[in-house]
Amino acid sequence: MSIPVVAGLILLAVQGPTTTATTTTTTPPPTTTVTTVPSQRVAAETTTTTAPGCDLTPANARKGDLIWGFKKSFRQYVGVGLAGATGNSITATNGATITALDEVVRDGVPNPSGIPTGAYRFTFDSADYTSPTQFTARYRGTVTFAYPTHFFTLLLFDPWVTTANGTTILHADIELKATPGAPTQPTNLPDVDLARVTPPAATPTNGLLTWQAAPATLTSAEAFAGFYQAGAAMDPVALTLAADCATTPTTPPTANPVIPPAATPTENLIPTARFRPTPGLASTGVATEHSLWAGVVLLLAGMALVLAAYRPGRRT
Ligand code: HEM
Repeated sequence: MSIPVVAGLILLAVQGPTTTATTTTTTPPPTTTVTTVPSQRVAAETTTTTAPGCDLTPANARKGDLIWGFKKSFRQYVGVGLAGATGNSITATNGATITALDEVVRDGVPNPSGIPTGAYRFTFDSADYTSPTQFTARYRGTVTFAYPTHFFTLLLFDPWVTTANGTTILHADIELKATPGAPTQPTNLPDVDLARVTPPAATPTNGLLTWQAAPATLTSAEAFAGFYQAGAAMDPVALTLAADCATTPTTPPTANPVIPPAATPTENLIPTARFRPTPGLASTGVATEHSLWAGVVLLLAGMALVLAAYRPGRRT
């Protein structure tokens, strides 16, 4: 056998069987999905808050917070957006923060459009407390929802809760700014009765009164320019009202880091590999294919040389 033939065969042998299976694995980007709802936050943390000897009284009700997501489908409408949405935003200021509680998650990714979509935490402002079934608690903060391509910006300001005579109402200032092209007129509704709340039969413990997830329904269709009817389900309300001697629950985590959406549709840029030198290592498989073809070429060259050297004996 000639040298090229031998070389070709050796190369093929080293290459191994061409049917070696190699799988392409792509690691999904790490996500920190938080699916906690406000009620879980309160339930988890109140168990650790104890201040023995502390009672909630009309004189010392001076702490707390209100965690409310407003309406999750609205957070999704603005925070994820419909096709063609550009420039949407949700921001919280003046005492409100956007938490990581109950974020909108799509395909395992929270805040899929890069806009924070979690529930809101409003800080304590003041309270007029008589008993667990009769009080007013005011909270502070502004949340702004902007949807420029639908011609509106909606602001939710300074919610406050009244409970008396078996009726509990969540009030807030609502302002709808509408630009030309909007299907409705702008509205400004200070201190509107926004939602009716059904609180649990809670009593203060160690100076802390908490409602974990009180169901709420919309009372003002006007607040959403008629896009929802009165009676529509709003997000449950998590209220904390505390004496100044109480240990309040720790603040829930703020919104997950938002990942800006990719400029182009994401696709797997690594072609399906037939050969991969090291499992799990990204490779195009090109180098391995080159050596395979080199082996074939050398083999053919060797055979050609053998044929060329072959001289059948001539008869004279
Ligand atoms: C003053 C301006 C507007 C306000 C306040 C407004 C408000 C709303 C609200 C509250 C919803 C319900 C979201 C939900 O809970 O699912 C909604 C849905 C919707 N809006 Fe608007 N909108 C406005 C303008 C527009 C415009 C101009 C368009 C069309 C170009 C539009 C298209 C839609 C569509 C298609 C839905 C249904 C979304 C779904 O069901 O997934 N809106 N809007």
